[in-house]
Amino acid sequence: MDRIIVAGGNRLQGEVEASGSKNSCLALLAASILAEGPSIIENVPDLRDVDAMLELLRALGLDATRDADDPSTVNIEPRGALQPEAPYDVVRKMRASFMVLGPLLARVGHARVSEPGGCAIGVRPVDQHLKGLAALGAKIGLEHGYVEAAATRLDGARFRFDMVTVNGTQNIMMAATLARGETVIENAAREPEVVELAEFLCRMGADVRGAGSDRIVVNGVSTLRGVRHRVSGDRIEAGTLLLAGVATQGDVTVRGVDPADMESTLDKIREVGAEVEVGAGFVRAGIAQRAKGIQVVTAPIPGFPTDMQAQFMAALTVAEGSSLVTETVFENRFMHVPELQRLGADITLSGRSAHVRGVPQLSGAPVMATDLRASAGLLVAGLAATGETVVNRVYHIDRGYERIEEKLSRLGGNIRRERE
Ligand code: UD1
Repeated sequence: MDRIIVAGGNRLQGEVEASGSKNSCLALLAASILAEGPSIIENVPDLRDVDAMLELLRALGLDATRDADDPSTVNIEPRGALQPEAPYDVVRKMRASFMVLGPLLARVGHARVSEPGGCAIGVRPVDQHLKGLAALGAKIGLEHGYVEAAATRLDGARFRFDMVTVNGTQNIMMAATLARGETVIENAAREPEVVELAEFLCRMGADVRGAGSDRIVVNGVSTLRGVRHRVSGDRIEAGTLLLAGVATQGDVTVRGVDPADMESTLDKIREVGAEVEVGAGFVRAGIAQRAKGIQVVTAPIPGFPTDMQAQFMAALTVAEGSSLVTETVFENRFMHVPELQRLGADITLSGRSAHVRGVPQLSGAPVMATDLRASAGLLVAGLAATGETVVNRVYHIDRGYERIEEKLSRLGGNIRRERE
């Protein structure tokens, strides 16, 4: 297994380009199942999670290939009848695979998708996805670890989520595009990835309104066509790179992202004392002294993203003063804490909160990547530490960060990958 070796201490400085958004891309690839014709998706990052979704699309009977000349372009083409079964082997690797359920059901009239099960950051049930599809008239069964859903044609309905769920909102929104009549989704997620998916669906010929608010209205149509779309820049990757700058008292600019997608993250970066600049398609954060300790509470948009929590905590470990980081979205998203402690961070966990007392300096050590964003937090911490940090189990990082070590070294970080 590859390892990433970071020799900390360099101030990160300079400019890098964000890759296409992983989470947007996964939803758009699932949505391409709805189209009768071919779709072309550009700015697709080279990530393990994206590869898993492409593999799943192929298993479902679509041609899904990266362009030979430009691998960031993916061509998707239906190849005859769809095979509406998403097997355990694929769904187990990546929970986002569950998003194919809505599109498959809407297109084929029945679907069988493995239950994703738990994952490192919590139980993560799919009950809301299923309640939503049932509200649209699907018959849902659970058998041998598979969700089976059937409906000759879905019927539009009014549905309210019990909690804000991003992929749940996307799943129901996709299913509703081909339903009979109007669907109203209440307590919908407002994340930028929901908005981008709605735009994609509308270009396919769907009638989706209100994405970005907590009430989405979908008027069903009978068919959808394939489209060409460019995936927007990854707001979480961009935030991670900015925080690597903050943790090292540096000055980092990330291009290829929409600052409007990053408001809550940028507000918090300002609050620790960094100077933040935004413009058309770029964000910049610079800080010449230690950050200040602050309070961070994760919540659905417009709150602070849970996907930035580990990286932000890593930057706060070397801040001046105390911080309180509270995780309200997932119940077990503090696996980075023991690893950060190995680097000398002073953190006390109490329920859903972590009390971080800033230390002047971390010291490098071997650490273990436990999940995607936790691993990114370890890189941020390693860059700020003295001496060498070895991050093992790098495959977690490769699920969601495209060649992160190259981007960080372009910013002046002393970081390299050791291949096995
Ligand atoms: C998506 C993102 C993930 C991000 C998360 C929250 C993708 C591929 N992943 O995940 O990176 O961390 O949003 O911003 O886009 N829940 C239920 N029942 C359900 C669905 C969700 O109880 O049926 C709970 C979850 O366990 C969690 C909370 O709702 O506690 C929010 O999860 P959700 O927004 O659904 O996360 P994902 O969409 O899976």
